[in-house]
Formats: sequence, structure tokens, C-alpha cells
Amino acid sequence: MIRTDEFARRRARLIDEAGEHAMVVLAAAPQTLRNGDSHYPYRQDSDFLYLTGFHEPEAVLVLLPGREQGERLLFCRERNPERERWDGPRLGLDGAREQLGMDDAFPIEDLDDILPALMEGCSRIYHMVGKDPVLDQRIIGWRNRLRAEHKGQKGPGELVSLEHLLHEQRLIKSRDEIRCMQKAARISVAAMTRAMRACKPGMNEAEITAELLHEFQRHGCPPAYLPIVAGGDNALILHYIENNRVLPENGLLLIDAGCEYQGYAADISRTFPVSGRFSGPQRELYELVLAAQNAAIDQVRPGRPFEAYHEAAVRTLTEGMKDLGLLNGDIDQLIEDQSYRRFYMHKTGHWLGLDVHDVGDYRIDDQSRVLEKNMVVTVEPGLYIGHDDDIPEQWRGIGIRIEDDIRVTSDAPDNLTEAVPRKPEDIEAVMAG
Ligand code: GLY
Ligand code: MN
Ligand code: MN
Repeated sequence: MIRTDEFARRRARLIDEAGEHAMVVLAAAPQTLRNGDSHYPYRQDSDFLYLTGFHEPEAVLVLLPGREQGERLLFCRERNPERERWDGPRLGLDGAREQLGMDDAFPIEDLDDILPALMEGCSRIYHMVGKDPVLDQRIIGWRNRLRAEHKGQKGPGELVSLEHLLHEQRLIKSRDEIRCMQKAARISVAAMTRAMRACKPGMNEAEITAELLHEFQRHGCPPAYLPIVAGGDNALILHYIENNRVLPENGLLLIDAGCEYQGYAADISRTFPVSGRFSGPQRELYELVLAAQNAAIDQVRPGRPFEAYHEAAVRTLTEGMKDLGLLNGDIDQLIEDQSYRRFYMHKTGHWLGLDVHDVGDYRIDDQSRVLEKNMVVTVEPGLYIGHDDDIPEQWRGIGIRIEDDIRVTSDAPDNLTEAVPRKPEDIEAVMAG
């Protein structure tokens, strides 16, 4: 649970960094119509959620560093008993002041009337430039109106991207954020283990998907992204989400799934034999991906460049592929030429947080950024072997990924999702019941 005072600290830090004569404008996610009167499930914008803890649409946060009458303003929906009977309770203006720690709150309908006057004395507006073209236009409109009213003398000259300030803050997780991520991880671990136990020859990918969703849902957690439940060759499609084919009796099943808790994501992949027993070639390739993952996880330490764990995975995979006859040549040259990309075409991981592919720069001044305590990353090497004629028969049509969520500590890597079996013998034991 993220407490009100943590949201206040986050806003305070942003106010401090934005500095005097600045205004910060940040909008809630829009509600999206599916068809008719039906909406897609609402998910708050991660940046807005990070700064407010507010889950309603139709809201705009305005921060005004140094403003004497109040620095933190929220425009949101007013209470409305008639609408609330249909759509559920709204926090309303008093709620925004009392429960969210805002200095003042105004009806969202008044945004156009109030905003230009608030810009007076501001020289910079921080906002998510380019994220919502309509809001971009409104901000420019408010500024122009203020300028017109004051014969061009006033109004902020600079429109600055808020992205950098806010996303740097989001990159390092607080104690309570880590707790949320641990909880998302625990539920996702239970879901993945449940799917592993349920899997039997003759089942459909859809039935396995239902096991995952059941476990997420019974904890009140939505999936953090569309689950991938890919039997056999479907694992060769990296973003396979159809999840509707019968599982191949002697093939592997690749699952990539995680839920979110209080907005914080888990992201786990496991690959296991539908029959409950790895074949010889499946096990050999699996052991190689597991070795690559272990080598990579060992690099997730403070002071190591972000790219180091990808490089460790690539080296282990390349050496292994050469041993298995999938690649030929000098190891350093194969890495230099990126020959491994034929079978390993994605990166080994990403930041994890409120977004599954979380925010934050990966490179600074054209150098790989250095890992710091309480960053959280995924480590997810894989191998995807197609059916091409020049590939030895036994490896064809095998797709494997193993993915865990790793927190950088001041010491050893902390694997939040390690409770899902990873070693072949442990997977076989769980599947045997
Ligand atoms: N589930 C998305 C990813 O692994 O990056
Ligand atoms: Mn994943
Ligand atoms: Mn991932």
C-alpha cells in the first residue's frame, strides 16, 4: 500500500525540482469506449497515479511551486448522486482535498476558465509533451489566451517535457513500492505455478490462460499485460496472444504472464513440457537458457552497467549455441556480428514498476546507465529456433524464455519471483504433483 504521505513526498520532490516560476500539468488517463455504452477496463495513467494515488478519469493535476495560496491543485469530477448511482462513487472536491492531500480542488469543467490565470508569473510549463495532442493544444491555447489578455507581456515562454524529472524519480523504488512489487510477484508466482500444475496433454492454451487469470482475479489483481500462453511453435511468435490452440503433446509450453498490484507489475516467463517430462533436446536447450539467465542475474548489482546482464546472457547463449551446432565460428566474432540474433532477437530485460516496461533512461551521455539499489529489472533470456532446413532436426520448433523480476540490492540480486520452479527437475517434480 502506498500511503498518502508518500504521494505527498513525490509531489514535493517534483515541485522542488521544477523550481520557482514553473507549472506542472498532468492529466488522468481517458476512459476508452469499447462500443455502445461499454468501456475498456479503466487503468489510470501511471505518471498520474504515481503523483496522486487517484483512480478516477477526467482529472488534471496542477503543481505550482512557491504559490502562496497552495501549490497542489486537482481538477476532478464533482460529486453527483445521479451519476454515482450508475457509475459508482466519486471522490469529489472535498475528498480530493482531504484524502489526497491537495491544497485545493476545482471542477474539471472549470479547467479552461481557471488555468490561464494560474499561469500568470510562470515562465515554464512542464507537461508530457506529445502524449496527448489535445491536451498539448489546450495548454498552448491557455498560454495564448493569457498572453493576449496581457498584450504579450506575460505567460510562460517554455513548454518543457516533464518526462525526465518524473521518470528519474519513478526508476528508484521506495520501500512501500517494493512491497507492492513483492505482492504482485507472489500472486503471479502462484498463478504460474498453478498453470504448471494444471497443464496436461490434450488441454487448450485457453484453459491454461484461465488458470492464470483465475489466480490473478481472486486476489483482485488485473493482468499487467496480455498473457502469452504459447504451445510449441507458437512460442516462436514473441508477442503471441491468441492463446487458443490445443497444446502439442510432446512440445513445450511458454507462458509469459504477470499481474499488477496497486498498479505495480510482475512479469514472469516459464517454459515447460506439456507432458511433464522434458525430451533430451528440449532439456539441452532449456539448460542453456537457464545458464544464461543465471549468468545474467549475477550481473544485477549496484555499480554494474545496465547492459552488462544482457552481455552476460548473450555470451553464455552464443557459447552454448556453438557447442550445440547452431552457430559456427569464433565466439567474439559471433557476438560482434550479432549472429546470435537469429535465435535470440530481443534484449535480456527492462525496468519494471508501474509500467511493465517501466520508465527511465537506459543510457546517459551515450553510456549504459549504472544500476542502483532498488531499481527493479526483468532478466529474460530466450532461444527461438525456427524450422529452417539448415538447423539440425532435433532443435527445430523449440521456443524457450525464462523470466524473473530482480531487485538491485546493496548486495546479492534479490529475485522476487524465484519461487516458480526453474530447474528442469523441479519443474518435472511440480508437474508430477
Ligand atoms: N511481458 C512482456 C515482457 O516480457 O517484456
Ligand atoms: Mn514477460
Ligand atoms: Mn519482460
